[in-house]
This record gives sequence, C-alpha cells and structure tokens, in this order.
Amino acid sequence: MDSRNHVENKEELKKAAALASVKYIRDGMTLGLGTGSTAYYLIQEVGAMVRAGRTLQAAVTSEATEKLAVSLGIPIIRPEAGIKVDLAIDGVDEIDDSFCAVKGGGGALLREKVVARRAEQVIWIMDESKLVKRLGTFPFPAEVLPFGSAWAAEAVKGLGGTAACRQRDGRPFVTDNGNWILDISFSEIIDFLTAAKAVRGIPGVLETGLFDKFCDRIIVGTKEGVRERR
Ligand code: 5RP
Repeated sequence: MDSRNHVENKEELKKAAALASVKYIRDGMTLGLGTGSTAYYLIQEVGAMVRAGRTLQAAVTSEATEKLAVSLGIPIIRPEAGIKVDLAIDGVDEIDDSFCAVKGGGGALLREKVVARRAEQVIWIMDESKLVKRLGTFPFPAEVLPFGSAWAAEAVKGLGGTAACRQRDGRPFVTDNGNWILDISFSEIIDFLTAAKAVRGIPGVLETGLFDKFCDRIIVGTKEGVRERR
C-alpha cells in the first residue's frame, strides 16, 4: 500500500467525521471545542458557520484551539464565567465498545476533561483506527505536577506500569497549564481500567487521559462511510 495515500485517506476519514458532527450544532449554542487534528476540521467548519451569521460561542480546550478559533472569528467564552456548555465535540486516541476512551495524545487532557464534564452533550469524532477491542495500545497519558514527577513515575511502577516523561525538543513537554505529561504503559496482564484509575490517586497526578463513558455519541469516519453510535 502507498503509505502517503494511506495518510491522506486517514485525514479524509477524520474530516468526514468532523463534518458529520456539525448537524448537531444549533444556533445560540455554547460549544466545547476539542484539540487535535480531527477537531481541527470541526473548528474550521464552526468558523465558516460563524462567518455565515450563525450565533455560536465556544469554550476551548487548549491554547492551540483558542488560537485557531480566534483566527476564524469564533467568539470565545472563559470557563471561569461559569456558563454551561451545550455541546462538546472532540477527538480521541482510542475507544472501546463501551465508550471508555483514552485521550491526551495532544497533551490537552486536563482542559478537555474540564470542558467535557461541564457539557450537556458530548460527541467524539474520529477515524476508524481509534476503535479498539481493548484499551491500552495507546500510551496512557497523565498530567503531573513537575514537582515530584519522578516520584509519580516510580509510583506507576508499583501499579505494574512504566512511565516516560513526554519530551519535546529534548525537554519535558509542558502543557498549557504548566505541567508535564507521563506516558504510561501497562503490562498486558494488568487490568487496564483498574490500573488507569489508580494512577489518578498518585500524589502529583492532576488528571489522566481516561475518559470513562464521557460521550453520548461517537461519529466515526470509515472507508465504507461515516458511522454513528450512541
Ligand atoms: C488531545 C486529544 C485529542 O483529542 C486526541 O489526541 C486525538 O487527536 P487527533 O484527532 O489528532 O488524532 O486528546 O489532547
């Protein structure tokens, strides 16, 4: 298979899922805008809707999303304002049949979780490669306080995992909140859900990328067309 073709197809599947999600957007809604390459297509579309005169505003889940949304003219609201989010739409890194998912590949998991929890409805958009039988193939991210993060990594070992501090340009990757990310792998014999939940209890771990049944609907771009499930 031509690998370039494959990558292009994957982008098309992400875009198809994102475009299918906008039919759930109603005038006057406050949206939660996700982060990542699939959310990118959604944000472009929301920008086009705003420019066409639709009344929408958005809470954003990362600085990258905020920058893009602002550049497209989408009005931004601050979560501090306490406004409810009508509909959050975001991508995922992997998701199983019961809508339990791992997110945070882009490092925005903490704000993504804050926004999704506040949302009345949550839709996840993805290409079909994100559907898995069993979670744990994607490195499991946890946002940690830099202070004591090596101790947190050590504590992960006690749970049967290994943790690597995510790097960018040879330095720890710094989240929008000024923290670091541990990317965790668990041995296959460990129950992923139990171990992932236990990570949240390690001192210094601020949040994990485990989003257990957060969404109401998934929209998946597949080679056979867009599929939805709720
Ligand atoms: C960022 C995320 C993203 O939603 C997730 O990584 C999916 O990204 P992409 O759409 O680029 O595959 O959780 O923190």
